Amino acid sequence: PTTRVYNFTVEEIQAAPDGVLRKMITINGKFPGPMIRANMGDRIKVHVTNELSEPTSIHWHGMFQYGSNWMDGTSGISQCPIPPGRSFTYDFLIDGQYGSYWYHSHYSTQYTDGMVGPLIIHAPEEAEVRKLYDHDEVIMLQDWYHDMSKDLLPAYLASGNENKEPTPDNALIQGTNIFDCSKYDASSNRTCEGNSTRAVFGVTKGSSYRYRLINVGAFAGFYFSVDNHTITVIEADATLVEPVETHRISINIAQRYSVIVHANQPEANYFIRADMITTCFAQPNPVLDSLALAVLSYTETTDTPTSVDWDPSEATVCQDFNSTLLIPTEVVSAPPADVLYYFMASFQIGAYALDRAFFNDTTWTTANIPTINQAVDGINNASTAHLFSADGVSSGFSDNQLVVSVPKGRVVDFLVQSLDDGAHPFHLHGHEFWVMAQSPVPATTGYFPWETYGSLNTTNPLRRDTLTIGPFGWALLRFEADHEGLWPFHCHIIWHMEAGLLMQFMTGAHELAKIGIPDDVRDLCDV
Ligand code: C2O
Repeated sequence: PTTRVYNFTVEEIQAAPDGVLRKMITINGKFPGPMIRANMGDRIKVHVTNELSEPTSIHWHGMFQYGSNWMDGTSGISQCPIPPGRSFTYDFLIDGQYGSYWYHSHYSTQYTDGMVGPLIIHAPEEAEVRKLYDHDEVIMLQDWYHDMSKDLLPAYLASGNENKEPTPDNALIQGTNIFDCSKYDASSNRTCEGNSTRAVFGVTKGSSYRYRLINVGAFAGFYFSVDNHTITVIEADATLVEPVETHRISINIAQRYSVIVHANQPEANYFIRADMITTCFAQPNPVLDSLALAVLSYTETTDTPTSVDWDPSEATVCQDFNSTLLIPTEVVSAPPADVLYYFMASFQIGAYALDRAFFNDTTWTTANIPTINQAVDGINNASTAHLFSADGVSSGFSDNQLVVSVPKGRVVDFLVQSLDDGAHPFHLHGHEFWVMAQSPVPATTGYFPWETYGSLNTTNPLRRDTLTIGPFGWALLRFEADHEGLWPFHCHIIWHMEAGLLMQFMTGAHELAKIGIPDDVRDLCDV
């Protein structure tokens, strides 16, 4: 094992990824951020220096963080954010996992402004699948706004807005795309440079390419396709799966899929398409360009392709690629569950007269004292220990924290029922869950058929860390509470997280309290 050291300086820059100049928040001035690539068993050390005038933190999306919950990077949960002008070193082992991950700011809506990057873990376990491809590359997709997210957030959270999410202005592939500057007239006060380019992915005829697709966006799901080339899906959120061929794959926020593309077509240039699934948008945006294009090039030129899209009627709905088609190659059956929790996810006119999002009766807001500190200090204090140590919903935490306490070692089932008309990509930190059951795809509304609970298929269900629950849909998820920590479960649509659609599991509270929190992490709270 190696220790891989990175220096990340977080800074505000001016840049025009699609031709439209704006302020951005970047790592080392790069967008997307630098690639982290390591082997399973390696140690990752990232020295982060915050040169912003606001706090920041970085979450390593999908990392289990065995014995290092406080390195999970979640502001208000696993740490206080890194104050402006300060530095902090994330330091964690990559234990028992490999595949395609990513990292992003986990402070408010900050990642939307550019603080995203790929995190790829290799392992000997890939030996078989590596025979399927010659080259291994990352393709990041994302929706893109021409304004800073902190300027868009207040209007979204304002009272009476009926939860109209800010609609993106454009879509990017690998941090770039072309925006049609004529959409902005002089009165718009925009600087549109009109000289942006499309990402080019060079290929050699006869070779095969593994593209690790990562949706690093804030709001929109995408359909991804390559003209004239069938794609073969082999990985979903770091779980290798039996190959599935398709023309087009939907990928929601924070999800990853690896697809194999065989360069077996006549030598020319072809469009790579990432098309936002706009049927999920709540309000129109007159300048919106929902299609990002890149070029698959056999020709070493940037000549504009003349290729045409696969049948567009295949792409209409806002939902996940049908995960019942995805069968993990490494068989891991789900152990029987010890406990079952039930959560309703909804939007309501609620607390503070804002249109807030709720899990059951709780809408999340960032706690000033991170919940890990509340738990560790609360349990170590004899007079409050009982408030935190209860099994189930814990009453010890500050307002707006729904924290479910699970003793270490337990296998948890939780059913999430959406009472909302939108689709939500839900992510669990620190774990993969088994998708035990979910509302049928294409999306249909309704409730979990409880009569099937005793006879769920436990043989090798799909394991992943981000799953879309469709409009008024549901999912029954199972995970093993095998390591201690505070682990958010939240909608990864950044607007929804900030509206409060986040709850937490606290696993192994007593073990966590015994270990405590390292001083350098605690020190971040001294401002
Ligand atoms: Cu991608 Cu809370 O995380």
